[in-house]
Amino acid sequence: MFVFNNIKNLQQHLSSINDDENIGFVPTMGALHEGHLSLIKRAQKKSDIIVVSIFVNPTQFDKPEDLVKYPRTLENDLKLLETVNCDVIFTPTVDEIYGDTIQSTSFTFDGLEHQMEGKFRDGHFDGVGTIVKRLFEIVKPTNAYFGEKDFQQLQIIKKMVEKHKILINVTGCEIFRENDGLAMSSRNTRLTKEHRLAAPFIYKTIKKAKKKFKKKSPKKVINWVKKKFKKHSLLELEYFEIADEKTLQTIEKKDSDKKYRAFIAVFAGEIRLIDNIKL
Ligand code: PAF
Repeated sequence: MFVFNNIKNLQQHLSSINDDENIGFVPTMGALHEGHLSLIKRAQKKSDIIVVSIFVNPTQFDKPEDLVKYPRTLENDLKLLETVNCDVIFTPTVDEIYGDTIQSTSFTFDGLEHQMEGKFRDGHFDGVGTIVKRLFEIVKPTNAYFGEKDFQQLQIIKKMVEKHKILINVTGCEIFRENDGLAMSSRNTRLTKEHRLAAPFIYKTIKKAKKKFKKKSPKKVINWVKKKFKKHSLLELEYFEIADEKTLQTIEKKDSDKKYRAFIAVFAGEIRLIDNIKL
């Protein structure tokens, strides 16, 4: 396994790859868990060389304290990556990526960026677009893999690739869950014991909402979820929305030809958790 923290050395190494071999890329912010490993395993099915980046991207954090507290576990991450036979790890410094100006570029993603996470996390998707585009330019993969837990991010990256004519296949991979249903996330390690025990309520509730959606209107389902969380003493609902899977626009009425997904963001104490479910 090769580990690089500078662009020049990484690119020099990647340039020695044979023409008939292709690169599969899994961008991460580290604090790796089984969910990340499942992306790597998926990438290994289609690509010859797997590159994983570990970079806590400052421009996608809307709150400075969240950036400071984001878990950083490089030593453990590298051990985990060895277990799945990852080929190349790229762990750049902030300076290597941004130089003197830690700033994001402004993007338009045809309105996808104004929904859900975009409403609650100012500038978040400009930060994501900036870093993913930059990493794509550096690594030049054939295929790139992202988890569906950040479904809005996945749709935005697909849109960016389409709008900027970037020749990379972007694949979304199913949410990986703990045994109790909690969606795996690097942030889960920051939950208190009490909040960790409470957190599976999120998936339980959206699974019930999915059942209700078969017979009830979106508004009724949304109100039902809101009521459930109002009664919960440890979890605070930020949003629960039902949206068209493609446009991410929230809906008032169901249309049988369209695909929908429910999206949720919840505070478990200080920790913000997101999840979603196909309806
Ligand atoms: O999903 C993440 O971990 C990050 O948003 C990403 C895609 C690695 C960009 O920093």
